[in-house]
Amino acid sequence: MSLSTANGELAPPLTLIAAVDQNWALGRDGKLLLPIRTDLRHFRCLTLNSVVILGRKTLDTFPGGRPLAKRVNIILSQSLGHIDGAQTAGSVDAALRLAAQYDKPCFIIGGASVYRQFLPYCSRAEITRIEYSFPEADAFLPDLDQDEDWQQISCSAPYLDTDSKLSFCFCHYVRKS
Ligand SMILES: NC(=O)c1ccc[n+]([C@@H]2O[C@H](COP(=O)([O-])OP(=O)(O)OC[C@H]3O[C@@H](n4cnc5c(N)ncnc54)[C@H](OP(=O)(O)O)[C@@H]3O)[C@@H](O)[C@H]2O)c1
Repeated sequence: MSLSTANGELAPPLTLIAAVDQNWALGRDGKLLLPIRTDLRHFRCLTLNSVVILGRKTLDTFPGGRPLAKRVNIILSQSLGHIDGAQTAGSVDAALRLAAQYDKPCFIIGGASVYRQFLPYCSRAEITRIEYSFPEADAFLPDLDQDEDWQQISCSAPYLDTDSKLSFCFCHYVRKS
């Protein structure tokens, strides 16, 4: 499904991808709640050779503050100029226009402010659900289970993260047509 930008231009189909806890929490103190190796592999597998749109604060959390390899990185920022290996966009519309130049799938990869702003343009969501409520989380994704525009169409069997002993599953949501 494609939607229009504020200027009426056609936006590419977007998939939101995120890992959340039982309260749809995303992070705390600028960091992920729990880096799960299997989930990071799942994320890499899905997003490889695609376009990824992310906020400047999420870029700061990557190793060396560097963009993701083997993906077109579009960084939302009003404070950054040129970034090696990435393109910068100063607005949602500018990011959508850049993404539309590529004939590739496009993923919204966070963080909280970017998910919130791009959710209306997303038609699919790949959500890793961690079976735990992290205390003092301070970044959240809107709860798609409570959003009448969205429905969960599948969810994997639970996996166990052997490091944390927490279970998690991969859930697939789509925007209702
Ligand atoms: N669980 C997950 O799957 C997941 C994934 C990603 C991130 N996270 C977490 O999310 C948290 C970070 O989220 P956040 O909301 O604080 O930061 P963020 O969304 O990553 O980045 C915010 C920054 O992006 C830029 N920005 C946002 N909207 C913009 C717009 N419309 N136009 C221009 N620039 C724009 C601004 O950068 P400037 O200040 O440079 O202008 C803003 O300060 C962290 O805890 C992180 O670990 C979780």
